[in-house]
Amino acid sequence: MRAVDLIQKKRDGQELTSSEIEWLVEGYVSGTVPDYQMSAFAMAVYFKGMTTREISDLTMRMVHTGQEFDLSAIDGVKVDKHSTGGVGDKVTLILAPLVASFGVPVAKMSGRGLGHTGGTIDKLESIKGYQVERSQEDFIRQVQDIGVSVIGQSDQLVKADKLLYALRDVTATVDTIPLIASSVMSKKIAAGADAILLDVTVGEGAFMKTVDEARELAQTMVDLGKAVGRKTVAVITDMSQPLGRAIGNRLEILEALEILQGQGRQDITHFICELAQIMLGLANVNKTVEEVHQHLENGQALAKFEEMIQAQGGDLEDLYRPVNVAHVVDIPAQETGVISALPAMEFGLYAMRLGAGRTVKSDALDYETGIVFEKKVGDSVQKGEIVAKVYTNGKISPQLVTDFQKYVKINDSVQSLREIIEIIS
Ligand code: URA
Repeated sequence: MRAVDLIQKKRDGQELTSSEIEWLVEGYVSGTVPDYQMSAFAMAVYFKGMTTREISDLTMRMVHTGQEFDLSAIDGVKVDKHSTGGVGDKVTLILAPLVASFGVPVAKMSGRGLGHTGGTIDKLESIKGYQVERSQEDFIRQVQDIGVSVIGQSDQLVKADKLLYALRDVTATVDTIPLIASSVMSKKIAAGADAILLDVTVGEGAFMKTVDEARELAQTMVDLGKAVGRKTVAVITDMSQPLGRAIGNRLEILEALEILQGQGRQDITHFICELAQIMLGLANVNKTVEEVHQHLENGQALAKFEEMIQAQGGDLEDLYRPVNVAHVVDIPAQETGVISALPAMEFGLYAMRLGAGRTVKSDALDYETGIVFEKKVGDSVQKGEIVAKVYTNGKISPQLVTDFQKYVKINDSVQSLREIIEIIS
């Protein structure tokens, strides 16, 4: 076979056979298919798409390019969760211990942030001592002992995705359903959980800009999971504004603690309780949202979180430490009205420029910087009232404020947003 023939076949809108897909994936991982040919292939997929059979073959070939985790030594139904990316998305930090506090084991591998999106592993690393790298044995032992572990994605997991994701990132081929579905599901299948909750984000700050696209991605991934015997449910969730109040690594840890103490904003707290209810349901533990919420109120979820932080070497005193930055800058509202839009992508990029995120993979992070919103979409504001606070170690200038204010949209009224738009199972 020749890569050029397979690129041409896809470019012309034809369906590749299983053995052609296998040859391409293996050739890419072994180095016989170079980056330039794989990027041409990714672009052909971007324009011509893939059939359901092709996506399934691609996903399973990718799974076999790395280590496949065996979690069978852990009793019970192991549930995993994955988000297709967002701004201010600290959901895993709360959801993992919350679900585990009901006795359902959560063995989760998470990623790092890039561009406008944040990553759970970066947030956890902002806690002094927290170890994100664990051997498979230690990971499994911790879940057996305390019911929860969140670690960084193993280098050995789905090598094809590691290579292909980096290539897609620099060749404008990330936001295409066949490649997102195979990337996400190859990792979830290789990570070994019995059941998977997929959070498919939609809106200005997400890869999927419309609910129709998000629905197609969600259904594709649910079908891939079910085809290999994993119970899989997807929720389509709003990412038109940042999730919760904080963007930035330590600031998001502090917001997660607030929510775990039952003191978070009502909207994000309710959203996380709904996700937890679905995850618990996947493990055959049926609870009402109110019963889930109880574990935030009575400290059981927080205790599980602290247990996890300690088990992975994290310092509990440092966990509760306030952020340490040179300047906290207030952002006042420019008019009176109702907040009608806070574009997630723009604020994700703003936080990235403060040092909270990376432009390229090798960038170092400033864990302490970021944004805390005092107001979210739907909240009323008076002119001059504080909409947000910016935490920075950089130079302060009037532009820091005006750059922020230009993205805060204020109107007379606003359509209310729903966090969960649809559930696909
Ligand atoms: N998240 C992933 O893991 N892969 C993608 O392709 C997009 C989002």
